[in-house]
Amino acid sequence: MDKEKLMNKAIEAMDSAYAPYSNFRVGAALLSDDDVIHMGCNVENAAYGPTNCAERTAMFRAIADGYKPKSFKAIAVAGDTEDPISPCGVCRQVLVELCSEQMPVILVNLKGEHFETTVSELLPGAFKL
Ligand code: THU
Repeated sequence: MDKEKLMNKAIEAMDSAYAPYSNFRVGAALLSDDDVIHMGCNVENAAYGPTNCAERTAMFRAIADGYKPKSFKAIAVAGDTEDPISPCGVCRQVLVELCSEQMPVILVNLKGEHFETTVSELLPGAFKL
């Protein structure tokens, strides 16, 4: 896996964010096992609740394109934060559902800092059926 490339794609995906309410752009780049990169951005809504985070946009996009749950190798997430961005609880739950437990999650900010973790480290004891 080319980690640098995935991180750069996550930063690139920030450009597509629709974030007129928070003005906080987030990008995600999800790598599938055939080495395709699925990009996602946050998409906000005037009613706030329907807002979709970048991570979920990337995952839902890949699933809608026919990729199967757990067929992903890594995800990078980028935001203009002090420390590398930290995914919200809803996205952590969706990562658990659609990605394997040991899949790397690479969190990035625009200062070039990054932190690598895994799906299960982000949500220990996750609810599953
Ligand atoms: N957001 C993401 O897209 N991913 C995260 O991990 C954290 C938050 C978005 C949601 C909303 O559009 C904006 O950032 C501010 O919360």
